[in-house]
Amino acid sequence: MLRTRIAGVGHYVPENVVTNNDLSLIMETSDEWIQERTGIKERRWVATDSEDTTSSMGTAAARKAIADAGLEPSDIDFIIFATLSPDYYFPGPGVQVQEQLGLDTIGALDVRNQCSGFVYGLSVADQFIKTGMYKNILLIGSELHSGGLDKTTRGRGVSVIFGDGAGAVVLSATEEEGKGILTTKLHSEGKHAKELALLGPATSRWVDTIMEENDPEDLSYYPYMNGNFVFKHAVTRFQEVIHEALAEAGKSPEDIDLLIPHQANLRISQYIQAKMGLGADKVFNNIMKYGNTTAASIPIALSEAKAEGKVKDGDLLCLAAFGSGFTWGSALIQF
Ligand code: UT7
Repeated sequence: MLRTRIAGVGHYVPENVVTNNDLSLIMETSDEWIQERTGIKERRWVATDSEDTTSSMGTAAARKAIADAGLEPSDIDFIIFATLSPDYYFPGPGVQVQEQLGLDTIGALDVRNQCSGFVYGLSVADQFIKTGMYKNILLIGSELHSGGLDKTTRGRGVSVIFGDGAGAVVLSATEEEGKGILTTKLHSEGKHAKELALLGPATSRWVDTIMEENDPEDLSYYPYMNGNFVFKHAVTRFQEVIHEALAEAGKSPEDIDLLIPHQANLRISQYIQAKMGLGADKVFNNIMKYGNTTAASIPIALSEAKAEGKVKDGDLLCLAAFGSGFTWGSALIQF
């Protein structure tokens, strides 16, 4: 039976480090507040004179993942790109990666599931590989948030959280017993779409309307988050969807060698860890260094965890995400 294994991982983060103290110089905030509420110490924000874009960071991470898999770019037969911060409104960045890597005219799919984008993309790739349609799929999560945040005191509830960066994996077909993706679980609840969203400019709020109204109170072109509300849903959904995957695979929390949650807030990860009775060494966190990089957070964390020797051959890995939509999902992988 064909299964999907993670053959290679890689990540790229921009050089420019922005500390909490740096932020306190441009808005009313403090290192103490940010660390206490989120665990974040610093994040990467693309420097204004940098040439990094969402697609170029994705391509940089992809090159590393392809090399890690021992493959050449020409071995890739499909691209999946997850982001909420594309270079262009359209087309999505998948095609830019095809061009930047100099690939044949292979298919490129863009996934718009925000913080859950990587897990959704993983599930889609898994179906393509299991059916034998593709052998080596490049899955990328990349975000360039910094250019679109409200960096004044007004926007501090959102802007201090988000960071820039990219992660990628190569997913390959295997028939090896005991290897690969065991299950993926995906969910959504659109009634909460506006609790974490960027509403305009889009077709429900055209640029013309925004410009005509010229309303200084209109913040529709900045991301909005009802933080407390999102937090409460996140802690419940994370646990639910992890248990759902474990149940389907006939596993229990003790079987998990490493849980890599979407890096939304260190307090959320710690809450899940405690509720699920997992040891601190069983949950990987790097939000302290990068903030919340949305679709990129899981592949960046996976790439770092592997580099640090925290994910080994045969380990049971659990990935889980929750975010805007709301959407959430999980994956269980025998590494
Ligand atoms: O990745 C997608 C999923 N996202 C999440 O899961 C995020 C979930 N939510 C959260 O992580 C938290 O809700 C936040 C970190 C966003 C906010 O933490 P909170 O404990 O919920 O704070 P709050 O929004 O209730 O704000 C508490 C106070 C407010 O002041 P008052 O009204 O009590 O005087 C805010 O104005 O903290 C103030 N505040 C800040 N103060 C200093 C908000 N942001 C900041 C800030 N610095 N950056």
